[in-house]
Amino acid sequence: MFSMLCMDIYEDVPHPGTHPRPRALATEAVHAGRDDLAALGLHAPPIDLSTTYPSADSRAEAARIDTFAADGVLDDGPPVYGRLGNPTVARFETALARLEGAESAVAFASGMAALTAVLLVRLGAGLRHVVAVRPLYGCSDHLLTAGALGSEVTWVDPAGIADAIRADTGLVMVESPANPTLAEVDLRAVAHASGSVPLLADNTFATPVLQRPVESGARLVLHSATKYLGGHGDVLGGVVACDEEFARELRKVRFATGGVLHPLAGYLLLRGLSTLPVRVRAASATAAEIARRLAADPRVTRVHYPRIGGAMVAFEVAGDPHAVTAGVGLITPAVSLGSVDSLIQHPASISHRIVAADDRRAAGVSDRLLRLSVGLEDVEDLWADLDQALGRETAPELLSGVSGARPAPEPAATPPA
Ligand SMILES: Cc1ncc(COP(=O)(O)O)c(C=O)c1O
Repeated sequence: MFSMLCMDIYEDVPHPGTHPRPRALATEAVHAGRDDLAALGLHAPPIDLSTTYPSADSRAEAARIDTFAADGVLDDGPPVYGRLGNPTVARFETALARLEGAESAVAFASGMAALTAVLLVRLGAGLRHVVAVRPLYGCSDHLLTAGALGSEVTWVDPAGIADAIRADTGLVMVESPANPTLAEVDLRAVAHASGSVPLLADNTFATPVLQRPVESGARLVLHSATKYLGGHGDVLGGVVACDEEFARELRKVRFATGGVLHPLAGYLLLRGLSTLPVRVRAASATAAEIARRLAADPRVTRVHYPRIGGAMVAFEVAGDPHAVTAGVGLITPAVSLGSVDSLIQHPASISHRIVAADDRRAAGVSDRLLRLSVGLEDVEDLWADLDQALGRETAPELLSGVSGARPAPEPAATPPA
């Protein structure tokens, strides 16, 4: 199992011709965004904390700002002011774009700031309608449902996307695997159904290690960089990988609204990317094994594990889910995911609390669902912790009773399309 996940399951990563031949994902992960370091006489990337930059030639600066305001492009000179751009953050953007096989990427203060910027770009073009598939991360759902930015959402099944598109539809949004049920959509089919409307795929759970939505036709790839990209639970960030045309619009919105990523966060995210393939593959192997054990366990009524694999497992318990989160010891009972250490949470109480209970349940988020983010701990230690936490809350008759668990999932070794 582990060797299957560790094999080099990715095609070479295409990127603009700065290298004689395309490099594989694992190579890009440690080298992208660092191409100029040797010429600078550096090994580790520098951190530029400047908020402002000297600009003795005001006329030239005025011309640069005009160009940025019109086109979202800043030339290769210094950034003028930290809200227009930052070289350390730009390294992370370059690297993430390469990993996603996209032309560009634009980083933000958080995943929600990134989604907000996408919506503002479309609203600015007079396209206020969004077609979206549930479930989405709870706050993304809330942002769309509340229409706080002036947008309007139509929730559909993937099969209903084409029919829901209107003249003012500016975006189709999906998550795959989705938070928290790990439901998957066929990205290629969804992109086809979206027609000329940009498809935004939230790729936070899969990461470019398991899936690159641009190759399936998504125009926009969103990440809560807070999760796997950072990978250590110590940095908040968001990023959108896309074509340069859309990136320019996003940079203009970022400049105007200020949801910038701090340079220290940019540094940590770039560093996080270098171990992303290794972390995701190792944690995925452990998660697949835990999913198998949970599926065979009478205390568990249902296990959700994606076809493409990954390090997230969701499961429904026969007993009290709150007792499980209260009972873990090694695993941290906390929201968020994608860290080197394992986290467990109860979506109906935390990550998806803000979604109306009926909508939540209709989207498959049962009140007995738990979401486990598997880290890099040893599988036996994790299982021992889960086992004792499940044991505490389960009625004795269920321990020897009939299981509603579905069969153990297949190993997560299917190469991404
Ligand atoms: C799938 C997904 N997208 C977006 C977000 C929002 O990201 P952030 O918390 O960085 O704003 C999250 C956060 O949990 C998420 O899980």
